[in-house]
Parts: sequence; C-alpha cells; structure tokens
Amino acid sequence: MAGLFSQATLEQIRAASDIVEVVGSYLPLKRAGANFVALCPFHREKTPSFNVNPHRQIFYCFGCHKGGDVFAFIKEYESVDFSEAVRRLAERAKVPLAYAKGDEAPQARHLKERLLQIHEQLTQRWQSALTTEPGGQLARDYLAKRGVSAQAVELFRLGYAPEAWDDTVNWARAKGYELGLVEKAGLVLRKEGSDHYYDRFRGRLMFPICDEQGRVIGFSGRVLSAEEQTAKYVNSPETPIFTKSKVFFGLDKSKRALLEAGYAIVCEGQLDLIACFMAGVQNVVAPQGTAFTADHARMLKRYVQEVVLCFDSDEAGQNAAARALDHLLAAGLAVRVAVVPAPHDPDSFIKASGGEAFQQLIGRAEGFFDYYLNRLCATNAVTSDRGRLAVLRGMAAAVHKSQNLVLIDKYAQKTALRLGVTPDAVRAEFRKLARASTAAPHQVEGAQPSPSQAPSLTRDEFGLLQLLFKQDDFAGWVADYLNPDWIRHPLVRRIVSERISAFRAGTWQGVPPFLLSLAETESQALLTEAMARNYLEGTSGIELVKGVRDHVRDRIVPNPLENLKGIVTRLRNDHLTQEISRLSSRYATLEACSPEQEELVKKCEALKALRRQPLAPR
Ligand code: CTP
Ligand code: MN
Repeated sequence: MAGLFSQATLEQIRAASDIVEVVGSYLPLKRAGANFVALCPFHREKTPSFNVNPHRQIFYCFGCHKGGDVFAFIKEYESVDFSEAVRRLAERAKVPLAYAKGDEAPQARHLKERLLQIHEQLTQRWQSALTTEPGGQLARDYLAKRGVSAQAVELFRLGYAPEAWDDTVNWARAKGYELGLVEKAGLVLRKEGSDHYYDRFRGRLMFPICDEQGRVIGFSGRVLSAEEQTAKYVNSPETPIFTKSKVFFGLDKSKRALLEAGYAIVCEGQLDLIACFMAGVQNVVAPQGTAFTADHARMLKRYVQEVVLCFDSDEAGQNAAARALDHLLAAGLAVRVAVVPAPHDPDSFIKASGGEAFQQLIGRAEGFFDYYLNRLCATNAVTSDRGRLAVLRGMAAAVHKSQNLVLIDKYAQKTALRLGVTPDAVRAEFRKLARASTAAPHQVEGAQPSPSQAPSLTRDEFGLLQLLFKQDDFAGWVADYLNPDWIRHPLVRRIVSERISAFRAGTWQGVPPFLLSLAETESQALLTEAMARNYLEGTSGIELVKGVRDHVRDRIVPNPLENLKGIVTRLRNDHLTQEISRLSSRYATLEACSPEQEELVKKCEALKALRRQPLAPR
C-alpha cells in the first residue's frame, strides 16, 4: 500500500502537515500543557480523552485507544484507505505526488485529477460569465429577485452557463481539453452515432457541488425563467469523481459549524441552504433532492450526534423526512423535525419571516416520534376505527426502528392518549405488529404502507434463508449465482452476505458460532425462526392454504436445489423489474429524443433481455 508513494514523498507530506493544524481543522482543540485535547471523534464521551502531541506529531485517545500519526488520523476520520489519506494531505499541503514506478493507480488518479481540474476551471469560467458577461444579466436579475447576496454568490461560487449548445464545447476546445474527457466529466454530451458534442448546461444558474474538502466535483443548474419547458434543475450525472448518494451540498462550508453546534440541519435544496447561511445559520447540509442515503447518515455521524430535518412543507417533503428516518437511526443519530409552515420551504420562510424566526423554528423542532404521531393523527381520522388503526400501525412501524424499549413504551403511552384507549391495549398491538413486521412476508392486511417502513420480508426471502441454512453445501451455489443486492430485506441481505463471506473465506463453523457473529438480536431471531420452521410453512404472516401445509409439514423438501434456483431466479427478476421501472420513471424527465433518453431506453431493453435469460454464475 505504502509502496505506491516514495518514502521521500511521504516524509515531505508529513513534514508539511502539522498534526495540530490538520486535526484542528476538524475538531476544536484546546491546549493542555504541552499537548492539545478534544472530545474524541471516534467514540462518545463527555470529558476529553483525545490527545494530540505536537512534539511527537501523534494523536491518542485514552478512552478508545485509537492513535497514530497524521495519516492515521485522516484515514480514520475520513474513513478512507491509506493512499487516499496520503492524497488528501498531499493536496492540502500542495505537495506534488510522486508515485513508485510500474503502478496502475496513477492512471485512474490522473483521470480524477484532470476531471477535478476541468471542474475547477469551468467553475471560474461560469463565475465570470455571471458577473461580467452581458448574457449573465438574466441570471443576475434572477439572483436579485431571489434575494441572494453578492457575498453568497461569491462564497458558493455561483455561476452562469451561457444560453448556447456549444459554449462549454468551445471553451473546452480552446483550453485544449479532449471532448471525450469533458464528456466523462458529465459536462458535455455526445450525439449518438457521431462525434458531435453539445453542452449539458445551457442558460442556467450554476451551483458548483463540492466534496468535503471543497473541491468542485459536479454541478446543479437551475432554469432562469418560469416558462421554460425543461426540468427545473439539471444535475451532473455520476462520474468517476461524483457519486450523488455520497455528497451533501454545502458540507465543505458547514463542517466547522456542525462540530460546534453538535447537530446538523438537513434541508432539501441548495437555495434553502444558501438562505440559511445568509441568515447566519451555518450548521446546514442539503442532500439535493436525491433520497437521503445510509452513506449520507454515516457522513453526518462523523460530525454530529443529532439531526434536525427541515424539509419542505409539501407532501413530498414530509414523506422524504419519514424516509430518512431509517438511515439516521441506523447510524445512531437522534432525529428531530422542524415543521416549516405551509406553503413555505426554508428559503421562502426565511425570506418571509427572517432568520430569527427560523432559528426559533429549529429550536422548537420536536423529536421525530412526536412529529410523526402528530402527522399520523392529522392525516387519519382518529374518530374512526380505521383511522385509529392506521395511526397505531404507523407508530408501531416507526418506533420499532429505534429498537429502544423505553422509547417504544413511552410512545405506546402517548399514542394511547391521543387515541383515547388504554396504554396496555396499545402496547399489546405494538407487540403484535412488531412481530408481524419482523417476520411477516407481506404488508399486514389493510395497513397503509407507511413511507418510513423498511421493505417487508417476502416469502422468497424467507425461503432463501430456510434453504441456505438447511444444507451447508448450498452456500457455494448461492455464492456463485446470487447477488445479495437482489435481496431487499436488509436483515436477510446481511445474513446471506455474511454466510457467503464465511463460505468464501472458509471460516464456516456451523450455525451456532454464525448466530453469535450476527450480533444484532433481530437478525438472530429471524434466522432462528427460519431454521425452526418447516420449509414452506412460512411465518405467522404467510400461512399457506391448510391442505398444502399439512402436505409438506415435517417432510423433506422434495427438491431443495430446484426450489433454491426458483427463488434466486425470482429475486433476480424482481430486482430487474424494479430497476426497469426506476429507469422508466426517469424517461419523462429527460429531454425528448435526446441521447440521454435514447440511452435510457437501451438500458431498459438490456435489462429486459437479461430478465429472460436463465440464471448464470456471476
Ligand atoms: N432537484 C433536482 N431536480 C429537480 C428538482 C429538484 O435535482 N428537477 C433538487 C435540487 O437540488 C433542489 C432540491 O431538489 O434544490 C429541492 O427541490 P425543490 O424544492 O423543487 O427546489 P428548491 O430548492 O426549492 O428550488 P427553488 O426554490 O428554486 O424552487
Ligand atoms: Mn424553494
């Protein structure tokens, strides 16, 4: 690993990266004698046991025993490998990287570097188009109308992409960039079957999207006139430097404020975030309209213990808040929800009521479960049995995700109070619904699918567990034929992945040690149940027709491998079907007859063809 870089380069980077400065850019360090101390970023603590020794250029935590040099700190803190830590520090210290000879990495690295360079230069180009070119007037007027200050324009490096099909193309040519490379950067598109390129961003207000270190890795462009028939925002596609699900707009600028405040405000859009900054609230990030992912939650967890969701007041915004919950809880973050009064979003609310009112709104944000109970009671008629049941089920599904018994009980009481029934009745229902939700293969009958509900267990997923653990020698077949991504239920996916890993690593020692290694009780319970039940008997939720069940009860499954093949094939096909519909739903958002749209159609066709193929080893 270290062989990638010459020893001299490493030492040069180390010499230029004072550990106090580097660590100090992430954490507030306090002097304590010859050392510096802080609350440890790697474990939870109330008094600082994290020490930085400037003399020896090392850090050490007396609480969790993590320690090392400046490379180790970046590695641990940014969750990156050694070579990436070296690169980041090299960049920070402006040390040119010299690679050891005969390595492949420089090529990939070279590509990323060039893509970054194009992004940086185009950012500058669009910044100057916004401020100096006559064509930028439209964008300047728009910013004035939206009340975006000159300071914010500068801080966020906003720009204007001129209204033309070949502005970026010509710019790139003039700079001597190969257009194929600019296409890889996602900034121009190639007309199918020709070598004709055209601009992706035309006549738009440009928001550079930065990584955590502030390097521009993508763009989001907003239309300037309401009449335009195109999408409100056009964004960079996924590229070697841009992965949407792992980027927050604004994080590079809010890092310090996040650490200082101890919590993060999450709003939907870049203009919301900019409005917050202008109002003096800087502990904000924006996932930019994409789903809030598990990666997003883990990123936030490195900076804060708590998140305040501050989404738009519309239905979509409120549903997005509910959907973010799973990942946030899974990352161990506390969650509150600030309710922006309709019809506002944070941006328009701040403009209408001021920064002070916004801060109060954040201060008043209630815990997620209180918010959710209110929302369920507001959207269901609690005077009817049907409505009460919907509230009960919605709350049961939500609170069980916390896996916190005290909290579950507290909300059983609160729910009871709201519904006018006894707490014991709600507790009993919660327990029943919890069992159903961990074991039931499909939605409880009549239940409203709650937006925050994890995908429910299907009969095939349950069957897969049963067969996989029935016979040790199935693991090899499954390892060859099944892609765990096809499994939607998170616990089943995790259990199956672990089983495959154990098979591949040759560490399988039978079920009992495996169960122990699963750690969470939910997974253990699920697997134990799968093995305890007869195949095809199903769980409490999938009762088979009585005759069939009697027939298979206590009998050896006639042809387990055939059954397994059937299950895996269906899991694959369901996955493909989902992918196809996900792609299809994007069809209408793309420009008619554009290469992008054609490409989408091709992709769908390819997936459909794949779905007709028999299962093949991976
Ligand atoms: N978004 C997107 N593509 C769209 C619509 C929205 O990528 N077609 C993303 C943008 O990052 C946007 C965020 O989702 O900022 C929130 O969407 P929305 O609330 O519609 O936009 P606003 O940020 O409110 O933008 P504006 O105030 O300019 O309407
Ligand atoms: Mn808005």
